[in-house]
Amino acid sequence: MSESTAAVTGDPRTHVTLSEIYEQPRAITDTLAAYVSGNILNTEAWAGVRSVLRGSDRLIVAASGTSRHAGLVGEIMIEEASGVAVDVEYASEYPYRRYDTLQAPSVLVLSQSGETADTLLALREATSRGARTISITNVEGSTMAREADATLLTRAGKEVAIAATKSFTTQLVLLHLLSLLLGRERGRLSAPEVAEDLQQLATIPSIIAGSLPGWEQRMSEIVPSFAAAEAFLFLGRALHYPIAREGALKLKEVSYIHAEAYPTGELKHGPNALLGEGAPIVVLATRDEADPSSMLRYRRSLQLLEEIARQRINALVIATEGDTEIEAVATNVVFVPRTTEALLPLLEVIPLQLFAYFMSLQKGLDVDRPRNLVKAVTTE
Ligand code: BG6
Repeated sequence: MSESTAAVTGDPRTHVTLSEIYEQPRAITDTLAAYVSGNILNTEAWAGVRSVLRGSDRLIVAASGTSRHAGLVGEIMIEEASGVAVDVEYASEYPYRRYDTLQAPSVLVLSQSGETADTLLALREATSRGARTISITNVEGSTMAREADATLLTRAGKEVAIAATKSFTTQLVLLHLLSLLLGRERGRLSAPEVAEDLQQLATIPSIIAGSLPGWEQRMSEIVPSFAAAEAFLFLGRALHYPIAREGALKLKEVSYIHAEAYPTGELKHGPNALLGEGAPIVVLATRDEADPSSMLRYRRSLQLLEEIARQRINALVIATEGDTEIEAVATNVVFVPRTTEALLPLLEVIPLQLFAYFMSLQKGLDVDRPRNLVKAVTTE
């Protein structure tokens, strides 16, 4: 795995960040094992969450940083699968927002460390307002795991690198499973539909394991063409917009290059003025050919890429294997294997993690310990 790192830096040392990116197949496997039994959700493991969410049709997710991006993916998955209304709040904003709505929402806090001060404050504020609470965290026995009414644990294993990677994809897995649970309980999903989805989910670890070396090699070859970039725009639609946001945050955290994410359709309303020589673009243009709305979004992204190609903008595009049109409209394409629309975020975020990793190495930075950042901000 270090040949590609050596190719970019001459230093074959593999960093913790890269090791943790490569742990994602195992982390997802372990998380699934704890919450899924064959093609059904493990009743025992979900008992606490089911009792907290029984009869609750409004959910607020409070989180910070990367965890909040997982929450944004979860919002779409849960709403589409179950009809439960989800709002995602910056944890630091939640205490200043009143939710005197007709139905008191339940509150879900997402936190790798389970100790982030802003998110812990949001959890305690929710509790003081009488809300039922759930925490999803990676640290058993953490404060949030202890104080929430119900807890789900990502089984990512200890995450050492400052930039969250394996904790993020395992958060996505748990949020996907939660969407299936709620969809089933609210009669929107049948048992066979849940079983089929779980079968697709079970293939994800081996798909990632089989793709990682190729993604690593490809990204190590691509980053030199972005060496002069001073700022990036990341674009994605629907479920892929939070992944664009996560890709932008990863790049900022470890390479100190400014990056901003927008819904793809928003580019023409202003941000397009930013594009130019030193301002390339990263676009998520993956697709699920079996999903008409996915294909509609894809077609619109393709049109946008055709316009960008005419502007001669350097573009990195994440696309789906089998797509024979994308290479005509993008300078650098990285393909992810086919899967369902709902599971594409689990795949497409990993090339973006590797992109940030190699952009950091290319600048000779300490990718594992970026300046000004800590693994968990435990003070307000
Ligand atoms: C920040 C980290 O300090 O905290 C981010 O730099 C992280 O990577 C954020 O996403 C939230 O941390 P946690 O532990 O609450 O998920």
